[in-house]
Amino acid sequence: MLNLPQAPLQLLSLPWITKAGIQVALLRLDLIDPMISGNKWFKLLEHLRIARSSGAPGIISLGGNHSNHLHALAAAGQRFGFATVGLLRGHPQDTPTTRDLEAFGMQLHWLGYSGYRARNEPDFWLPWQARYPGWHCVPEGGGGVLGASGCALIVEQARAQLPVLGWNDYDAWWLAVGTGTTLAGLVLAEEGAHPVHGALAVPPGYGVEEGVPALTGSLAGYHLHDASRGGFAKVDDELLAFIDQSEAESGVPLEPVYTGKALLALKQRVEAGALDAGTRLIVVHTGGLQGRRGFA
Ligand SMILES: Cc1ncc(COP(=O)(O)O)c(C=O)c1O
Repeated sequence: MLNLPQAPLQLLSLPWITKAGIQVALLRLDLIDPMISGNKWFKLLEHLRIARSSGAPGIISLGGNHSNHLHALAAAGQRFGFATVGLLRGHPQDTPTTRDLEAFGMQLHWLGYSGYRARNEPDFWLPWQARYPGWHCVPEGGGGVLGASGCALIVEQARAQLPVLGWNDYDAWWLAVGTGTTLAGLVLAEEGAHPVHGALAVPPGYGVEEGVPALTGSLAGYHLHDASRGGFAKVDDELLAFIDQSEAESGVPLEPVYTGKALLALKQRVEAGALDAGTRLIVVHTGGLQGRRGFA
């Protein structure tokens, strides 16, 4: 039941990629499942397995009112038959995501802003564990060691498909970063064999710089680049025009919070001459397309 679907690895064709003489393969995690999309399946995998094997009555986690993570968790709960609870930032709001969460059967609790800020305090979970005894608790965004170990499987999926592209190897990875958990999974799996480049969707200084080594230990082999364009979920005309054009030229859907910003940051690096001609890059499409509805 809890087997990961296979994400297709496809060559991405865009004029700036061709012009630079590089090759980009896109690992389409957005296509693995219509509901449990993107890196979320990988981040949730170990949590779902533990909840199942421990006989937990349900899973409880937290996020914002456009959260891709809560969306995937609620969909997984409905699909695999376990109860879910979502602890939400701020005050009750009606968004396409929260409507889905409720439709999937997730019980929502709105924590306000200060209540949500306490999520990293040591005793944050105590009242929720008392209210929902035996439930499995998942950190914000599916972050942490369990999330990272699930994401290590992303590397296996891509490597298995290199022959389909006629590639025998690749030079590096590129992906969007929020907490750094997905990136940490790739770093753990690569063990330095290929560098992993993370395009930060959050501004520098929001904890990723400390969070990744907490998950990967002393492993090197990764680089962080600011792709946040002035703030998390902040959009601007250049970004939106880039997304429209890229979608029209490649046929690949993007969203403005993670995948659009990551690809634009890559384009800027390529145009600045940071990648040699002949470079073969694997870019991870981390999904998140449900969150696009919040920007309509
Ligand atoms: C679509 C999408 N891409 C990338 C990320 C970033 O993943 P991570 O938090 O593991 O860095 C997220 C959020 O977690 C996301 O929803």
